[in-house]
Amino acid sequence: MSERIQHAGLRQRLMSAKEAATLIGPGMTVAMSGFTGAGYPKAVPQALAERMEEAQAVGETFRVKVLTGASTAPELDGVLAQARGMELRLPYQSDPALRERINAGELNYIDIHLSHVAQHTWFGFFGKIDVAVIEVVGILEDGRLIPSSSVGNNKTWLEQADKIILEVNHWQPAALEGMHDIYYGTALPPSRKPIPLIRPEDRIGEPYLRCPLEKIVAIVETNAPDRNSPFSPPDVASRQIAGHLLDFFEHEIRHGRLTPRLLPLQSGVGNITNAVLAGLAEGGYRDLTAFTEVIQDGMIQLLKQGVLRMASATSFSLSPEGIEEFKANLDFYRERIVLRPQEISNHPELIRRLGCIAMNGMIEADIYGNVNSTHIAGSRIMNGIGGSGDFARNAYLSVFMSPSTVKDGKVSAIVPMVSHVDHTEHDTMVVVTEQGLADLRGLAPKQRAREIINKCAHPAYRPLLQEYFERACRESYGRHTPHLLTEALSWHQRFIETGTMMPPR
Ligand code: COA
Repeated sequence: MSERIQHAGLRQRLMSAKEAATLIGPGMTVAMSGFTGAGYPKAVPQALAERMEEAQAVGETFRVKVLTGASTAPELDGVLAQARGMELRLPYQSDPALRERINAGELNYIDIHLSHVAQHTWFGFFGKIDVAVIEVVGILEDGRLIPSSSVGNNKTWLEQADKIILEVNHWQPAALEGMHDIYYGTALPPSRKPIPLIRPEDRIGEPYLRCPLEKIVAIVETNAPDRNSPFSPPDVASRQIAGHLLDFFEHEIRHGRLTPRLLPLQSGVGNITNAVLAGLAEGGYRDLTAFTEVIQDGMIQLLKQGVLRMASATSFSLSPEGIEEFKANLDFYRERIVLRPQEISNHPELIRRLGCIAMNGMIEADIYGNVNSTHIAGSRIMNGIGGSGDFARNAYLSVFMSPSTVKDGKVSAIVPMVSHVDHTEHDTMVVVTEQGLADLRGLAPKQRAREIINKCAHPAYRPLLQEYFERACRESYGRHTPHLLTEALSWHQRFIETGTMMPPR
């Protein structure tokens, strides 16, 4: 009998993942926990995928609609995609098998802002939630739940689902208890009230998830790790990008637009942002805060070094080494980390009011500062917009970063016109590549184009962009945001046809 399930009555609902999966039927809308490979259910989705494959073997269709916090892992998105068991998926994903199915047009993928998911569910935009499958660390005597390594949309799933399946994962440290802050003050318009969070460290809710006990139909015990992708040290381009951004922070401090404590940091995951975080430590910064989505290895290091005073997020995304460090010093980190529902971690009003510095990766930017974070050549999805729009639109400073070329120089990340727009020129303030940093604040379109081309484009593509822009300035239909419409997307077409954006010599 599990010591992690303290509620005596609920222990009666323990069953195998296989039995629990029988409570999910074809066509249902299933909301699952999980955010950037943390806190997702590890067993029930796999058992569900097996049922789907069995059904398909006898000619039956068994597909469900899957809603999560954000990306999960092979044990959830991977197996359900391989079983061709999803008819709809939202929001962010990053699983290779699922990406392949989406790009083959086999299921509907809805890429929405992470801050929108909970409220759109409450508004009824996604219809009824039939079942929620939620990973937790444990269940208290009174039935409240100790949240796991991500919070995501779990509060909403527990409240909105007709039936609840819980996975109690013994791999997750019991000492996570107390790290979370679940805010129960959200209401629907027109009755909404301001969220009383003034500083990133403020606790405005409760450390536990409330759960209507009568809705719990199954409890499954697991002992399985989070995805915990290995961490690779930053490459040269990432370090150069970080260097430009850190010089820019110094410049802003000298001009009185930032203080040495900066403002609450938001950073996406990956090589470049880890390099920026490492650079902050080398730059002698102290006492910073983070108001972000995900705590990655770089942030754990900064907390340890005292560069970061605290970090607020909705999830972890740690490497195996990062998780070891975290588990070994959990009491230290519990004092300094707050995990919140993603509707709070990504709340536009809070991001605007706190004045976050948003630093995110991109696929490409165009010469005017429109940014594509999600699509290759306009039509193939990579991952999704995630929280980048929540932060970029509302931040004190919104920064987008990428190497200036990818695919061994065959693709330029700076293009005449982006092939898909996630963030418009109105929201992009700074673009950084290893070549340099374009500060777009206070600039009109043609000034922005010169800044981006001259500072950010790779030397191999810079003359081509300059030539395009100058011709557009002479020949464009209008001269405010000059473009040659028959050529604007020709770089992408050339890439599709020849494998490179570079024209033949
Ligand atoms: N054209 C073609 N392919 C491109 C490309 C371009 N312009 N830019 C990047 N890619 C490819 C890379 O080559 C790589 O491909 P591979 O997996 O085959 O090697 C892949 O896209 C990922 O790029 P990578 O260099 O590994 O960068 P990354 O890990 O920093 O990811 C994004 C970049 C844009 C995909 C990523 O930041 C993302 O998903 N952003 C959207 C969500 C977001 O910003 N979340 C954070 C907010 S909280």
